[in-house]
This record gives sequence, structure tokens and C-alpha cells, in this order.
Amino acid sequence: MALPDFLKQLDDLVADAVQAFDSASDSESLEAARIEFLGAKKGRLKAAQKQMGGVDKSDRPVAGKRFNETKKQIDVAFKAAGERLAGGTQAVAKAEPQFDPTLPGTSLRIGRLHPITQTIEELKDIMGRLGFSVADGPEIEDEWHNFEALNIPREHPARDPLDNFYLTTAQRTADDKTLLLRSQTSTVQIRVMENTPPPVRIISLGRVYRPDTADATHYPMFHQIEGLLIDTHVTMADLKSVLRLFAVSYLGGDVHIRFRPSFFPFTEPSVEADYHWDDQWIEFGGAGMVDPNVLRAVGYDPEAVVGFAFGLGIERLCMRRHGITDIREFYKNDVRFLHQF
Ligand code: DAH
Repeated sequence: MALPDFLKQLDDLVADAVQAFDSASDSESLEAARIEFLGAKKGRLKAAQKQMGGVDKSDRPVAGKRFNETKKQIDVAFKAAGERLAGGTQAVAKAEPQFDPTLPGTSLRIGRLHPITQTIEELKDIMGRLGFSVADGPEIEDEWHNFEALNIPREHPARDPLDNFYLTTAQRTADDKTLLLRSQTSTVQIRVMENTPPPVRIISLGRVYRPDTADATHYPMFHQIEGLLIDTHVTMADLKSVLRLFAVSYLGGDVHIRFRPSFFPFTEPSVEADYHWDDQWIEFGGAGMVDPNVLRAVGYDPEAVVGFAFGLGIERLCMRRHGITDIREFYKNDVRFLHQF
């Protein structure tokens, strides 16, 4: 007998037996069904077992395995019918799936905010407590706000089309109206100062874009937090205090801040700020005293007001705190990663 035919016969046998046992309405009909299927001499199961001898030798292990399963299924159906006919609610209850109310439940997977969004919310919170309100600006900017007003003149290498996402590279105009995806959140400093008289105390958080090749520490889109404080008496010491309080609040513990001399067109003097954490000095971001040229560009009087500004990468902060080693994780949309936050 060919193997497929034999297996088909076993399937039919199970179906018939289950049907017979399930429909047995009293002990007599159950006994009749038992003899028909499980009878030791002439039962159909016994007959099937005999037929197995006619199955090809090489197919016999498969046939035997299926035969054993068949037998088990038929036994189970017979037992269940017996219990059912033994009557009483007890038997019925036993047939129901078991439910143990003391077992822990299956927790639902609830959606949650992206780790960068969570970080942004937390940074807003921290800086809010220091008196900074949140300002917003567009991600599509013009050259005036992204460069010119920030004291980055036309011939400056930072304006190179290869380093920026210009939206109209073919005809860059001379009036600083050419559009690009902003490369820094410093643009919002200009927008705020153009529209508000001093004093100013704002932060701005959002996406910035640079044509970098993605690797563990670079991504063509990332997030920055920008800070700007303008008043009559502001010093580098204030800047350092604010950055320190900021770092302490976000990273926890007693964080130290160090300034290294640096250069940014929009600040004078400029520094790179580092923080000390886990026995290491780690780059925090750029900062400095707002350059008088920037104040002039927005119509402020550099003789009357001074201020500081800073710009930090948000991914880098979040990565440091959570021990994330590859920035690309944030943007793969792999729920196994995202679910951890
Ligand atoms: N805009 C700078 C950047 O993207 C960061 C920065 C440096 C912002 C110094 C500032 C600043 O406000 O004062 O690299």
C-alpha cells in the first residue's frame, strides 16, 4: 500500500471515530463505537495496524509514527465521550479549557513615544525649570537665517552646496533667499530675535540636516537643542552654570563642565563644552557669547545687550545616557529596539 493512501486512511479513521464518539448519546452507543474502532480483534484501528505491514519498508517509520498519533487521538476522543456521558457538571467543567485566575496576565504591547521624542520632552522640562521657554522655527530655511545673519558670509566653506541640502542648487540667488534644509537650529536664534525685543531666554529643539554618510555616529538628519539668553549683564560664568545644571539634571550626579577654546562665526569668544562623566571628558557641544555682528543683524544694540548661546546634539545625549552605540538604531524602526524605552 502506498504511503499517502495509508495516511489518508488514518485521517479518515480519526474523523470517523471522533464523530462516532462525540455523537454517542448513551453508554450502549459508546460501547458500540468502542468496539467498532478500538476492538482488539476486529476494530478498525487494529485493521489499520495490520495494513501497515503492506507499506513500503522505507516508509514505515513515517507510517508508524502517524499510526501512534492516530491511536492517541482516538483514545482521547473515547475518554472524553466517557467523561461526558458519566454526566454531571464536573465532567463538563473538566472538558472546558482550564483557567487559572492566579496566573500573571499577558501584558499588552502599548505604543510609546520615540526615545528622541522622550529626550526632547525631558530637555524642555529641565530648561523650563531654568526659565527658558520653547521657540520653534521651520526646517526649510533661507540662507539669511541659516548663514548670513549668523555671521557666516557667502564665501564661508560651511555654505558649500556639498555640505548642505539646498533645495534649489541650480540658481542660488544673491539675496539670501535660496532655500535649504536647515543645517543647525541656530536659525531659530535669528527668528526669535528678529521678532522679540530683549531680554530673550529660549531654547529650540528640532531636526537638522546634513549630507553625511550614515555610520555609527552620523546620520543625515539628527536633532539639536539650541539655547539663547540675551540680557544686559550676562557672562561666560552664567553660560557655564546653565550648562552644568542642564547636564546634572539630565545625566544625574555631580557633573563637571569644562570649556575648550573654539571658533563659531556666531559667537565670540567660542567654546567647545565638555562634561565629565563616568571618569571621562565627553563632548557636550558648542557654545559662546553671541557675536556683536549677530546682534546687529537682528537689530539689537551690541552696546546695550549681551548674551550667550549653545547648541548640542540630542541623539548624542540620549545615546550617552542609555549606552546606545549606534545612532542608526534610532531610525531603523525596529520595535525590539524602540520598545526598550
Ligand atoms: N550650530 C552649531 C553646530 O551646529 C552648534 C552651536 C555652537 C550652536 C555654538 C551655538 C553656539 O548656539 O553658540 O555645530
